[in-house]
Amino acid sequence: MRFFSVFDLVVHHARLRGHSETQMYSFFRKRGIKKADLLCTKDTGMIPTDERLLDAILNYLDMSKLELELALGRIPSGYEHAYLQNVKEIAKLLESSKPSTNNDSVPPTVQPYFLTEYGKLFKGDCLKLFKMVPDESVDCIFADPPFNLDKEYDDGVDDSKSYSTYISWCFAWLDECVRVLKPGGSLFIYNIPKWHTYLSNYLNDKLNFWAWIAVDMKFNLPIPNRLYPAHYSLLYYVKGNKPKTFNPQRIPIQTCRHCGGEIKDYGGYKNKMNPNGVNLSDVWTDIYPVRHSNSKNRKYNELPVKLLDRVITMSTNENDVVLDPFGGSGTTYAVCELLKRRWIGFEVGNCEVIKQRLENKEKDIELLKRVYEEKNKLFPDKVKELRRKNGFWLAEDFMENKEHAVAEQITLSL
Ligand SMILES: C[S@@+](CC[C@H](N)C(=O)[O-])C[C@H]1O[C@@H](n2cnc3c(N)ncnc32)[C@H](O)[C@@H]1O
Repeated sequence: MRFFSVFDLVVHHARLRGHSETQMYSFFRKRGIKKADLLCTKDTGMIPTDERLLDAILNYLDMSKLELELALGRIPSGYEHAYLQNVKEIAKLLESSKPSTNNDSVPPTVQPYFLTEYGKLFKGDCLKLFKMVPDESVDCIFADPPFNLDKEYDDGVDDSKSYSTYISWCFAWLDECVRVLKPGGSLFIYNIPKWHTYLSNYLNDKLNFWAWIAVDMKFNLPIPNRLYPAHYSLLYYVKGNKPKTFNPQRIPIQTCRHCGGEIKDYGGYKNKMNPNGVNLSDVWTDIYPVRHSNSKNRKYNELPVKLLDRVITMSTNENDVVLDPFGGSGTTYAVCELLKRRWIGFEVGNCEVIKQRLENKEKDIELLKRVYEEKNKLFPDKVKELRRKNGFWLAEDFMENKEHAVAEQITLSL
């Protein structure tokens, strides 16, 4: 495992020395370092700037600051040239102490929990289940893992891993995503920005960065001494130079829900606006959380159908294969079924809830219909009515755009 926080390295070292937690903290207390000071190094990748704390840590680890940086997998600034000059020696040293790999390359044979015309759900740990997916066989991956925020999940999920364990775990399933993605395939990861700073950095060496999408987070609570967290991040990576499928998405312009007037002033550009809506940007403010328990398929963490429809229609075509390694309530699979995409799903927890959802599609059909009432339109019908009533302009007022509107209209056939 790689270490990303100094605290995790200290704990690892304590284990190697056979120290209990009490013995570890007592070592620091004797040097005037309180437990709380040491804990400040737990949820950050920073090397402490407090000299007394850093000295005590280096003392405990029996390392110099340079060794500490190397142990954290970093090349300290000022050493780049020296590092480059010595890569051969470093490689030789690493190769000579490489442990023999445990050869479990035979893919497991696992029976699906259930099958549909379009997809298969497997119950189990995604890291094991990924092994049966052939290299370069998937067109799109959508992954919404637990965020390591100590939330309650089904058995088999630990949502309070250490800093280093969580990031290393994400790297392990990301490696599998990279392996199974077809050339030109798209990978989407939904998480909080803090983890995405690491995941994005890791993926930059393997895939092509396409976008960091900020998904506006509604109704969140403020956190003391921090900026109000207002977005989730949706990373979008592509295997190779460009996506093999990119279907542009258009959305309505934002209007006042009381009068229907546009929020942004489009001034002299009104007559040039595409009647199918404006181009989707990398800030998504129109995604609303699944809030009410009676409309949720399980008690937590269900993503809205609108988000999955957007990702899947943007990056795939009918019959393409979509994989989601963290099934949850099965939103990805439900949308794939309705959009006629083939799918592969993994879920370590309750799979019955997903099966029930896919056997009773009425609610998802209704939700998706509502999504399409607003999709690829400059103004949804209800907004049009309101604007007409209040004397605001409509796309139809500008005749030259009419044909365009018909040509680009995208419909949903359910
Ligand atoms: C945030 S939820 C996904 C929600 C989903 N996107 C939806 O819309 O319903 C994450 C899911 O991943 C599952 N999970 C966590 N660790 C897993 C693992 N190692 N393998 C497979 N599933 C896992 C959890 O049980 C949980 O249901």
